[in-house]
Amino acid sequence: MILPKLLATLVSLAAWTKPVAASLRITADLHSFGGVNYPLLQFFDPRHRDDTIREIVKSGARVIRLFIRPDKLHPDPEAELGEFDKSLLDQFDDTMAAIHHLSKGQMKVIIVPHDSHALRGINDVPCDAYCQKLDGAFLDFYSSDEFRELYKQRLEVFLKHYPSKNFDGRSWSELSEVILGVDLQNQPFSGIWPIPSGESWLCDIATYLKFTIGLDNANIAVISGGVSGPQTIDGNQNFPDSVFDCKAIDVIGIHGYFSKQSDATAGTPWANMFIPGNTLTARAKGKKGKGKLLLVEEWEYVHNDEFGLFYKKEAVFDQGNALNLRGIPWIYSHLTTESESKSPRINPLRPEYTTWTALADVLKRAYTARSNFNWSKYLPPPYEAPSSLSISHHIAEQRLLSMMTDQASSSTEIILTRAGLSNLTSIPLNPYVLEQGDCTFGCEGHLCDAADGCAPDLLCRNSVCQKNADSQPGQVGNQCNSKAVCQTHLHCSRGHCLACTPRTTVQPDKAHAPRLQPNNPNAHCYTDALHSLFSQRSSESTSADGTRLICRPPSPSIPCVSAHHCDANAYCSWGLCTPCLPTDACLGAPCRSNNRCKTGYCNDYGRCDYAGQKKTITGPGAAWGTKGRRVAGVPRGHERGPAKVRDEAMRVNILPEKVKQTGGPAVAA
Ligand SMILES: *[C@@H]1O[C@H](CO)[C@@H](O)[C@H](O)[C@H]1NC(C)=O
Ligand SMILES: *[C@@H]1O[C@H](CO)[C@@H](O)[C@H](O)[C@H]1NC(C)=O
Repeated sequence: MILPKLLATLVSLAAWTKPVAASLRITADLHSFGGVNYPLLQFFDPRHRDDTIREIVKSGARVIRLFIRPDKLHPDPEAELGEFDKSLLDQFDDTMAAIHHLSKGQMKVIIVPHDSHALRGINDVPCDAYCQKLDGAFLDFYSSDEFRELYKQRLEVFLKHYPSKNFDGRSWSELSEVILGVDLQNQPFSGIWPIPSGESWLCDIATYLKFTIGLDNANIAVISGGVSGPQTIDGNQNFPDSVFDCKAIDVIGIHGYFSKQSDATAGTPWANMFIPGNTLTARAKGKKGKGKLLLVEEWEYVHNDEFGLFYKKEAVFDQGNALNLRGIPWIYSHLTTESESKSPRINPLRPEYTTWTALADVLKRAYTARSNFNWSKYLPPPYEAPSSLSISHHIAEQRLLSMMTDQASSSTEIILTRAGLSNLTSIPLNPYVLEQGDCTFGCEGHLCDAADGCAPDLLCRNSVCQKNADSQPGQVGNQCNSKAVCQTHLHCSRGHCLACTPRTTVQPDKAHAPRLQPNNPNAHCYTDALHSLFSQRSSESTSADGTRLICRPPSPSIPCVSAHHCDANAYCSWGLCTPCLPTDACLGAPCRSNNRCKTGYCNDYGRCDYAGQKKTITGPGAAWGTKGRRVAGVPRGHERGPAKVRDEAMRVNILPEKVKQTGGPAVAA
């Protein structure tokens, strides 16, 4: 045998893997999108600002999230409570106008009208006028009527009173051509979960924005903004009931920070969080007209010393790729002019920092990614430009320009088409996986679209390569017979399921050509037929020298005992996972009791849910808010339960965290 035995030697290009009928693949003809947070953009000189915007437009990003907040060098527009500096709003307005014009109307902004970190002077955001008045009791911002009124006045001045410098003196609350949505605040109650007091602030402010200020009339979304800060895998920080139940909140903003782990990519938590039809996504889909849109408003590179900086691009691509697969729009946090190093920062204008290449790559893919959610009210489907690969940037700009100005171009017939949608029949391989990494393909936590997308000892379930649970039937070493079958890629021999070897990557003929990695998108596997030329093995036993058999072509019928052995969109019938039909009471279907649901159980929100266990992933996002976490100043027992939602003013003094010395301006929340 000359074929080297590498663990990761499968490529999912094998011809016989037909897409399974009821896969988790999204087939709705609706667009997802990607974008970037750029907290300091409005402060740049116009030339640098516009160069930056042009580069972002080129990437295919459709949204820039902008913050109205101070940094070390720039004041907040509300320097004293109730007093506003119009010139700073003009500067912000100029930035929105530049984004609108340079993107030819293809890109919109999300406005963050205030950052909760300014209430405590943390995260490199200076203590602002609210913070001075709160004097440490920062939760009073949410529970005291006086502060609510002050904050509503701020919102009213920004969104109603200020006459736009660049958009004909209209108020921002009407500028739906450039504003996608407005956050209640960046990370209300940041770091506090469960919320001890003042939770009604969320819907109070949302209602004020939507109906009193009138964002509803203009089809501008009200966004919750990442309630309580970082979302964990098994918590509900960003989407407490008060957010789901509030009619005035259109979009649930989710902020999560995950790093690569030995058994998970940085994108695995996202793939697990948004399984189509699970508790979160099914609840958000909800009833027609009453659902919520889900938006990952902040995700970022989180450094893990175990791996090191070489993995930054890989981790960035994995996260965007997982969100594209699940059809959840996302906004990277964040772009900067500073150096990148171990921080989440990405500098789009400095070619020597290369992470932007990976981010721009996955932004481009988001441009044509499908979603189960309809965003067109807030962001129309994109035109086939300017990120389209098929036409040059210049022509694309011309086309769009003539479209915007309704001019027929004299030289060319302008036919502008909406950008197409990709069918994710096979999940894009991560082109930034390091060749020298321990595993380049099909490892635990990697995305997969078929059983052979994973190493033979793993199972491809819910699009993620996972270890077999002890109870998972038909795995290597299990007994097998005509009734108890093996997993489809394994051979049953002498009563046991045998381990197998993946097909290997075809290497180039030339002696000195570089070896192809298993995750090379242009590589191919040896077919079974070719293998049979090399070895005359019968399928009944291992060969005489004891080497393993080549894995059999997988089929979707995984052996099972209960639904949680199967994909989230299949159920267990007569010992085999069976894909759900639209008429089956499967994941996401309305239900009243457990026995109606073929996929597992009926959740608290009346939807069939997936019984598969969740997995806790470590990283900053997972470190927060473990159950029972004490909140400083909140009496024991009042963290949740009936005493949880309190509206009376409470003086809660939380010690200000030490401001980090980073030597540069703000880091996004
Ligand atoms: C999406 O929403 C828009 C308007 O909100 C509507 O016109 C369109 O038909 C919807 N598309 C689908 C596929 O439901
Ligand atoms: C994408 O998939 C859908 C549903 O399977 C199919 O109808 C459509 O033709 C496919 N489109 C492309 C471009 O392959």
